[in-house]
Amino acid sequence: MDRLQKIIAASGLTSRRKAEELILQGRVKVDGQVVTELGVKPRKGALIEVDGKAIAREDKVYYVMNKPKKVLCTLNDEHARRTVVDLMSDVPQRVFPVGRLDYDTTGVLIMTNDGEFANEIIHPRYHIAKVYEVTINGILKTEEIKQLEQGVVLDDGIKTLPAKLWVTNKDFAHEQTSFELTIQEGRNRQIKRMLEVFGYEVRRLHRRSLGPITVRGLNVGEYRLMKPFEVKQLRRLANEGRLK
Ligand code: URA
Repeated sequence: MDRLQKIIAASGLTSRRKAEELILQGRVKVDGQVVTELGVKPRKGALIEVDGKAIAREDKVYYVMNKPKKVLCTLNDEHARRTVVDLMSDVPQRVFPVGRLDYDTTGVLIMTNDGEFANEIIHPRYHIAKVYEVTINGILKTEEIKQLEQGVVLDDGIKTLPAKLWVTNKDFAHEQTSFELTIQEGRNRQIKRMLEVFGYEVRRLHRRSLGPITVRGLNVGEYRLMKPFEVKQLRRLANEGRLK
């Protein structure tokens, strides 16, 4: 059961801190009774009113999107570029992306209004395997593959966790290598920074899966609701923290 101020904030009415002020000011009622304490945990389905108006209680929703290129994973952009939230404007809940994919990266992106769930999935303490299809501007050497798999030290001085790499194509005509790379972390621009260690540039980056979640059946830019078992599976994987 959530605390009253959290429920009010989750309704989208205001921030948690402002909700606390509203409670202390005696402007909040639970089942018809004014509540001025902050610790109250209303029963499920309780009628919560602020200034006499019932708040909308948002159901938690979980979507998977096949993120297109040229779309940002931020909530809004100062240059008015399209964001993943703009792509989901017909969804009534206020969803946000779980983690980030770069502007030009495509593939699996989870969108939700459940902050706790999002935290579990992206927290560095939890590990969920993510499979990326990568194309770089050069021919990857065996020794580099070994190092990428064992972990490389990124520009922040921190070594990456073990990864798996399968070369799918060495294209000598175009001087490029395509491969699948499975990582269990989600550091900022991680794949690009891993390849930068050896001086390569990423030409194409597509996240094929996040744990058991794929974009199979979804065209670029499309999204679907995740099934309850998929949400459960992701939570379980995050907490097990193993490379799958
Ligand atoms: N690694 C990157 O460099 N970019 C992404 O978008 C995802 C992983």
